[in-house]
Amino acid sequence: MHDGRTGAESAVVSAFGRKKKNRHMAAAAALAVFFCACGRPLPEPPDRIQAGVAYYNQSDTFLSELNDCLKEQLYKLENKHFEVTVTTKDAAGLQRTQDDQVKELIDAGCNVLCVNLADRSDPSEIIDLAREHQVPIIFFNREPVAEDLMQWEGLFYVGADAQQSGVMQGELAAKAIQADSQIDRNKDGKIQYVVLEGEPGHQDAIIRTESAVDTLKKNGIELEKLSCGIANWNRAQAQNRMMQIISEHQNRIELVLANNDDMALGAIDAYQKLNYTETALPVFFGIDGTDAGLEAVAESKLAATVYNDKEGQAAAMAKLAAALVLQKGLEETGLVDGKYIYLPYEKVTRDNVSSFTGA
Ligand code: BGC
Ligand code: CA
Repeated sequence: MHDGRTGAESAVVSAFGRKKKNRHMAAAAALAVFFCACGRPLPEPPDRIQAGVAYYNQSDTFLSELNDCLKEQLYKLENKHFEVTVTTKDAAGLQRTQDDQVKELIDAGCNVLCVNLADRSDPSEIIDLAREHQVPIIFFNREPVAEDLMQWEGLFYVGADAQQSGVMQGELAAKAIQADSQIDRNKDGKIQYVVLEGEPGHQDAIIRTESAVDTLKKNGIELEKLSCGIANWNRAQAQNRMMQIISEHQNRIELVLANNDDMALGAIDAYQKLNYTETALPVFFGIDGTDAGLEAVAESKLAATVYNDKEGQAAAMAKLAAALVLQKGLEETGLVDGKYIYLPYEKVTRDNVSSFTGA
């Protein structure tokens, strides 16, 4: 960068290259839409959408793919009447870092924030900052508790229903087990299974596991739990955990339920590393439909996955961001209880995977 901009501002890419102006005034105007029931005239809406996007960890596979969709959707909003800029920040897992980054984004003039919390139980500092500067926040993917979202009118959440993804994973696994008697390799009438879980405390981790297991049982599948490992959504960690679990249970494992595709792929990596032959492998199920996950489904390495609609989430966030900044169209964003947008999950098997990859 040779234009004299520094820090947060250097990452701002303006498609028009115009100078930033009005800063906090514009941000304050953005919120007038839901504050001005008081009869005072509304300030002019700003001529730009300046979005600040804060990630808990940009090396997360699902989120890095979501980020591409979100940028695309936000830049699509640009037209001859207003410009769009997007600045992204990566907290590398630390809420303290994210608190500082959100402050930088606000100081740089962002008039809407999209925040993927590092610690979903600790958004208070960010909420205080945003309220103080009247900059609305769309939280996404890592859901704050309802009480936190109620702290101020300018707070929203876009994501998906964790329970739905777990139920779908359970239904997919039940169907596969009912269709293929070979999955019960030791023929004891039960399915010996292992769970790989995401971060403790994440709304998607425990709920996905519980609802997948419950759904299998409801579908008449007898289960025997062999082990459960936490791998924090991460492929390499899942490989390590799975190597340990395999060393404890050898070829007794018949089913691996992973809270996301990256961990399912890590489990597959573990078996590959140990040179297991195909007939001694369990069946693997993931959630997300990441690029690598879909490819593994197409190759029948992953029995099935559940699509976490990143395109839908990104489009909903962009539409909501525009409505908040431009003070129009909030009714058309599909907000539930004035706060929430949940996009539905979808089942992905080898039969329909091509409709997700576009192949
Ligand atoms: C996704 C995971 C991702 C996590 C990050 C979940 O909804 O399924 O792949 O790592 O969100 O917060
Ligand atoms: Ca068995």
